[in-house]
Amino acid sequence: MSVILSGNEIKKQILVELKDEVDHLIEKNIKPSLSVILAGGDPASEIYVSSKIRTCQEIGIQSVARKLPQSVSQQELLEVVGELNRDPSVHGILCQVPLPEQCQEEEVLEAIDPLKDVDCFHPFNVGLLATGNPRFMPCTPYGILQILKRSGILTKGKNVVVLGRSNIVGRPLSILISQKGWDATVTLCHSKTENIEEVCSRADILIAAIGISKFIKREHVKKDAVIIDVGMNRIIDPTHPKGKRLTGDVDFEAVKDKVSAITPVPGGVGPMTIAMLMLNTINAARISNDLPLFQL
Ligand code: GUN
Repeated sequence: MSVILSGNEIKKQILVELKDEVDHLIEKNIKPSLSVILAGGDPASEIYVSSKIRTCQEIGIQSVARKLPQSVSQQELLEVVGELNRDPSVHGILCQVPLPEQCQEEEVLEAIDPLKDVDCFHPFNVGLLATGNPRFMPCTPYGILQILKRSGILTKGKNVVVLGRSNIVGRPLSILISQKGWDATVTLCHSKTENIEEVCSRADILIAAIGISKFIKREHVKKDAVIIDVGMNRIIDPTHPKGKRLTGDVDFEAVKDKVSAITPVPGGVGPMTIAMLMLNTINAARISNDLPLFQL
């Protein structure tokens, strides 16, 4: 029987620890706060943003969603970022992506004050991470590392294959997991990788973040491998009450009895991303009050 790695359960544990830290800060008259910018009406983004706001409320972090119309201009978006940068009561700023097509994502993300960049998307923060001296942690990659650590899965010396080189997941994760303390041997695969299935089948730990529903089949995984599925693919399913459902990048049913542990979709990596956003917001509040970073 393989172990189902429940992100929902691990998120709950972590939120207890983080709520405790929020309570300590509030006792010191520091009220951690997060502002989330949502430009446009992408339905998936609306769901993610309301989940982020709800989790803030659960642990006592103040939160505000700034909703902007689909037609927002680059200039207007930059003005909102500037206003939040200048507001000392705002500790963390997150601009949900994707942005409407007339906006330039890179410029917007670089406009966020690096000391408030709770996504860890700003090049300054990515640079600190890459050189082994992180300020904020990238939320999805660090959430995955917390799943592994808290489930007793060792990465030291292991063959870790990461599928997908995005700036949000694959690239920062490949950097982090190869660093001292995690000590994995990493292969980062992407759309041009030759014999990708064969590379996957040699992984002790396979982390799939390519956004293709059920890309990883039974023959692509090694017996007793650990599988982390980052996929959040919305597929049409007339048999489902909503007519659609969420699937991962891994064919869960086909691999589940071959592997030693696997994250489900939903309820695996997704909730962990939100838990790590809470950690970063607490740390943004600590940084603005000259306190050392809180570590998990
Ligand atoms: N869109 C999908 N995931 C994320 C995330 O972690 N942060 C932001 N800002 N946008 C996203």
